[in-house]
Amino acid sequence: MPKAVVLSQFGPPEVLVWTDVPTFEPGPEQLRIRVKAAGVSPTDAKIRRGDVTAAFPVAAGAVLGFEVSGVVDAVGSSVAGVREGDAVICLLGGLGGYGEFAIASSWTPKPEDVSWSDAAALPSSAEAAVGILKQLEVTSGETLLILGAAGSVGTVATQLAVADGLMVIGAASPRDHEFVRDLGGVPVSYGAGLADRVREVSPSVDAVLDASGMGGLPDAIALAGGPKRVMTLADPHASEIGVAFSVGTPDRAPEALDRTMPLLADGALRLRQQRTLPLTDAAEAHRLLESGEIHEKLVLLGE
Ligand SMILES: NC(=O)c1ccc[n+]([C@@H]2O[C@H](COP(=O)([O-])OP(=O)(O)OC[C@H]3O[C@@H](n4cnc5c(N)ncnc54)[C@H](OP(=O)(O)O)[C@@H]3O)[C@@H](O)[C@H]2O)c1
Repeated sequence: MPKAVVLSQFGPPEVLVWTDVPTFEPGPEQLRIRVKAAGVSPTDAKIRRGDVTAAFPVAAGAVLGFEVSGVVDAVGSSVAGVREGDAVICLLGGLGGYGEFAIASSWTPKPEDVSWSDAAALPSSAEAAVGILKQLEVTSGETLLILGAAGSVGTVATQLAVADGLMVIGAASPRDHEFVRDLGGVPVSYGAGLADRVREVSPSVDAVLDASGMGGLPDAIALAGGPKRVMTLADPHASEIGVAFSVGTPDRAPEALDRTMPLLADGALRLRQQRTLPLTDAAEAHRLLESGEIHEKLVLLGE
């Protein structure tokens, strides 16, 4: 029987249990993937804790994980252009990434020179970054403040916005300032006094992308002259101050992987540094994610 990391109940990291699961067959328009690597996102931890049951109504027995890279293991009867053995990356429609096998409804070929780990770290961040930049309707010449510019989503968003001709002011901790500069942004420290520090760089900003959910929205509203062009990916209280929450839906940015994967393959897109653990250590990965001990994107490696 195949194995996966199953959510035995909502709770601390130990509720993630490596165990036998049934063999799933792909639907007519799906692929079954032998998972080589699975990205771990802060959203996975929110689901595990039971913090986001309205957005993700999962039950005990679910397998977490939105993003994988792997090898096609079985092809649905209506799928064309993909064969068993092909290397692909996938943003999974629902969950299901932390297993030996995953079922995917959409995929992008993985270039040979992109590692399994990089490929698995890209999908969720790329989709969120491309999607929210579109929703903010930012254009060349504008100034964009990104809260969490050195995080997984922020790293991708900063580079895409800079490439599109925007000036990006990136809120990040001082240890990440050089990294944000390397990405093409102007770093400022987050926390109290953020608005003053941003004003030293630019008197106002045209739009704000909150990729941290850790505060800063009141400053963002003040800097942008109102909440209209401020959006968050992560602050559940944003609507209380008029800020829109950008939800990951299938139509937000279906083009995201086709746009970003070639950039990654060409070395034109950098990702946040990764730390890898075996797939069997998903509970430890979640413990690390929530401990603040590490500063890297976590990726689980399959066989
Ligand atoms: N709605 C969606 O569709 C969607 C999609 C993807 C992700 N998300 C959510 O978006 C958030 C970011 O995801 P991620 O994968 O990029 O996480 P991540 O890699 O952990 O990045 C978060 C970044 O925020 C920084 N940060 C911490 N406190 C901050 C503050 N007060 N102000 C500004 N930045 C601060 C962190 O810096 P330090 O390292 O210094 O703490 C880190 O660089 C998560 O909450 C995730 O669940 C939502």
